[in-house]
Amino acid sequence: MDTLVSLSKRRGFIFQSSEIYGGTGSCWDYGPLGVELKQNIKRLWWRDYIQRRPDMVGLDASILMHPTVWKASGHVDNFTDPMVDCLECRRRFRADKVDETPWVHYCAATKGNKFTIPSGEPCSHCGERRTLCPECGKGSLTPPRQFNLMFKTFMGPVEEDASQTYLRPETAQGIFVNFDNVAQSMRRKLPFGIGQIGKAFRNEITPGNFIFRTREFEQMEIEYFVNPRDTVEGKPADEYWHERWIADSLAWFQRYGLRAENLRLREHEKDELAHYAKRTADIEYRFPIGWSELMGIANRTDFDLKQHAQFSGKALSYFDEERKEHVVPYVIEPSAGVDRALLAFLADAYQEEEVRGEKRVVLRFHPELAPVKVAILPLLKKRDDVVRTAHAIRDTLAKHWTVVYDDTAAIGRLYRRQDEVGTPYCVTVDVQTVGDTDKGESADGKVTIRDRDSMEQVRVPIDALPAVFLDLLSGGSWAAVASRFP
Ligand code: GAP
Repeated sequence: MDTLVSLSKRRGFIFQSSEIYGGTGSCWDYGPLGVELKQNIKRLWWRDYIQRRPDMVGLDASILMHPTVWKASGHVDNFTDPMVDCLECRRRFRADKVDETPWVHYCAATKGNKFTIPSGEPCSHCGERRTLCPECGKGSLTPPRQFNLMFKTFMGPVEEDASQTYLRPETAQGIFVNFDNVAQSMRRKLPFGIGQIGKAFRNEITPGNFIFRTREFEQMEIEYFVNPRDTVEGKPADEYWHERWIADSLAWFQRYGLRAENLRLREHEKDELAHYAKRTADIEYRFPIGWSELMGIANRTDFDLKQHAQFSGKALSYFDEERKEHVVPYVIEPSAGVDRALLAFLADAYQEEEVRGEKRVVLRFHPELAPVKVAILPLLKKRDDVVRTAHAIRDTLAKHWTVVYDDTAAIGRLYRRQDEVGTPYCVTVDVQTVGDTDKGESADGKVTIRDRDSMEQVRVPIDALPAVFLDLLSGGSWAAVASRFP
């Protein structure tokens, strides 16, 4: 994780928020390359799930909603974590995590010497187990109290109870309250889904592990509405579609580069299911911190639509033409975190290897995810015509993709720099490209393309570059291109 944090800062992916003021601890800013990577994740998700599927539509609901939304959804009453406070140092911990952290102990058997003892173990000198605050080792802890994770805020100039609302802790509720608007305006028949990407906020007690758990993050959520009375392939429709979405979601992460051995499914035990769920399966990724949740796929039944119908007094149902009856749809919810997906793609892409006795750091991003698609590098920056040609190529390719021009180091350094940020292709412009009138050498109008992964190079006419990159960046293989330009 430290390697990824340091590379992210050094190469402009992710910075600590408000760093010049000492940082905030749980918020991060996406730099020039980070924002490209994040946009690419969101763009591919939107393209694959909303644009390409006939049964899906998109939505962009507001972050601030009517406060009753959160009463109806159960968040006001149930979105809590049990907390304990240290009476001495006033630090606050999640009650269920206290015993999982190493603890500070002033050992009476060694004249009160201070030790940090691994979690769950007794002191090896006196045999005592942790009873006091794990952080300061001096204060008693209060009994657990429920702490709501929603950020409170106020609408309008007066800070009074009547104007209190919350920053949304999930994007899902914006979809549920718009169910009827979307179904009617888009004339939808079940099954159909609504997808949304947007910010969510949770006052996490223990944020941390870089962008894995933060207080402000982004979600990509789908609510897929099905008729619970239907059966598909012999299964109740909700169960059938739950399985389908689990398989589709796993395949999506693999399509864009996550290795199968770093992904697994974990079923929620009955006692850990959220208050609304009939069944939930998490897709876990082997993050640098160990196996942890990347996304969840829940069967939320008709809980949310029924709750909102009850609290708002507006029917949120669907008229089943065949059966001539109203039904409240069941909902399958594939819910992914953008930031967690980004961390997984970054971790999976990161590789260190040895090339001709030197260490090469390379981010093997899928070309569609890579923040920069092509780097244009002039071999001789003293030659005006070489530089001019390189700039012209940059301008042409920039009409289609995010590309960069760089002439600030020798070519070997420039290649390494691009490898380290995952740029799949580099184009070099040299003297042969533009010719050398002094030596009577004519221009060949060709440039060298270098492939990040194989480090192979081919020489391609400048005019062919847009078509070649269109092919390479939309799934074409390097081997096929290389064979066309031997
Ligand atoms: N609407 C369902 C829902 O919000 P969740 O499991 O609480 O379910 C879904 O959140 C996804 O959002 C998680 O799998 C994770 O990827 C992401 N997520 C949740 N809390 C997060 C946090 N504090 N920081 C970063 N990502 C988070």
